[in-house]
Amino acid sequence: MIPTLLLPLFFVSVLPLFSFFFLGPFSLKLNTKDKPSSHDNIVLPKAYPLIGSYLAFKATENRLIQWLSDLIKVSPAATLILHGPMGSREVITGNPAIVEHILKTRFSNYQKGTTFTHTLSDFLGKGIFNADGHNWKFQRQVAIQQFNTKSQRKFMEQVVDEKLSNRLIPILASAAQEDRTLDMQDILQRFSFDNVCKIAFGFDLDYLTASDERSKFAQAFEEAMEISTKRFSEPLPLIWEIKRVLNVGSERRLRMAVREVHEFAKNIVREKKKELKEKETLESEDMLSRFLNSGHSDEEFVTDIVISFILAGKDSTSAALIWFFWLIWKNPRVEKEIVNEIRENSETPVADEAKDMVYTHAALCESMRLYPPVPIDVKEAMDDDVLPDGTVVKKGMQVKYHVYAMGRLESIWGEDWAEFKPERWLEKVESGKWKFVGRDSFTYPVFQAGPRICLGKEMAFMQMQKLVAGILRRFRVVPTVADGVEPRYFAFLTSKMEGGFHVKIQKRVLSD
Ligand code: HEM
Repeated sequence: MIPTLLLPLFFVSVLPLFSFFFLGPFSLKLNTKDKPSSHDNIVLPKAYPLIGSYLAFKATENRLIQWLSDLIKVSPAATLILHGPMGSREVITGNPAIVEHILKTRFSNYQKGTTFTHTLSDFLGKGIFNADGHNWKFQRQVAIQQFNTKSQRKFMEQVVDEKLSNRLIPILASAAQEDRTLDMQDILQRFSFDNVCKIAFGFDLDYLTASDERSKFAQAFEEAMEISTKRFSEPLPLIWEIKRVLNVGSERRLRMAVREVHEFAKNIVREKKKELKEKETLESEDMLSRFLNSGHSDEEFVTDIVISFILAGKDSTSAALIWFFWLIWKNPRVEKEIVNEIRENSETPVADEAKDMVYTHAALCESMRLYPPVPIDVKEAMDDDVLPDGTVVKKGMQVKYHVYAMGRLESIWGEDWAEFKPERWLEKVESGKWKFVGRDSFTYPVFQAGPRICLGKEMAFMQMQKLVAGILRRFRVVPTVADGVEPRYFAFLTSKMEGGFHVKIQKRVLSD
């Protein structure tokens, strides 16, 4: 029996029943007429009343992203209608025309939606990452101004350079000297966390080296993010809603972690506001100071927006880089090209020089094609609609686009889609130099596309290029995995390498 008090909660929870964030346990109704023979071994799950295909999805849990990707590959128009329990349905697609339709043409009809925002609201409040409509638009407009100034870009570069030279390189150098194995995934995540905190708050967390009080914020942030995103994969939202009301288990830990994060952030906001009162203007270029300087002083608002920025920027570049280092190790020819390009550049490439590193840029795009930091994204339909391939969408249905599958579609990338080939992004010009040839963002929605495209894209490339140049100029990154073992790619909000990315760091000699 459900206690009377919990009944309203029950209805709120049952409506989005089984509607998992990325990987909802839906059965698949697939038009298999055009199924290529090479995909004959792909078996569709059976759907049962009430639970739908929950059991089948549970069984493929370990490779759900890859499995859904295989199903997209064999479906006409790279689009599936997923039939879930209790009559619910959703669409999952790898079709660029549909991606353009939901992210641009009918942008206002496809929003984050209440399932998404309600699930993350304890942690993210109404910050940009968790906002729709006017609230999102307002934050986006303010944030864009803060992000796009020349001085802001210079500040971001200085932050990256400083962390790279004074923290990351020494850590790698000592690992090389002592022949120590490092978890590069952990190191790069800490590096990105430090960077994004400095840029957002103007506060040096020093997560990369410190193990004291300062790390508490980072650890609480990680915990809050992990538990919040795991809410999406509860078979019933009711489970976390009840645990939340009773304040037990993971929900109790979440409450404590969120309190820690918000207290820490609010203290910084208060300090900055005090400084601002005393000095009239803050000279600092960090995002918080800029927000406060431009008259946005509401504590809740600036705290929420800064927390959203940290979340958006903290894991994505590290997720991209671990797969990049993995792929170049497997492709020494590509590594050689990158090292040659780096050696042609100055010690710490400033943004313009980093832009000249076209081969490195192409290699980063290519590695994110195969291993996107955000593998699947979800939108909710605000009203009935018809997608470009004729699929009917009803109000409240979720439409997901599968970025990982799109990077692996033969129809987009050709027969050699499985090859790691930066050259597919390049063209030789008369001078014999490479010229970068981009793809449209609906075909390659790694940074999303349309009005809600990632705000940190430029910053991310700057950070990644500096990091790659700084590391590969001095070291070789050598994975310690046994021969023939492929690391497993999995994801919650952002992708990860299961078990970490364990490497030896070797000093690079001139002949390397
Ligand atoms: C390789 C690195 C990155 C990738 C692949 C990436 C990808 C994405 C994607 C897919 C989204 C859409 C998420 C959604 O709405 O569901 C997004 C949004 C966003 N990203 Fe990034 N991102 C990267 C780095 C960064 C960095 C370094 C920052 C800056 C701190 C940043 C700031 C943002 C912000 C603020 C949004 C929200 C934009 C909005 O909703 O209007 N990103 N990013």
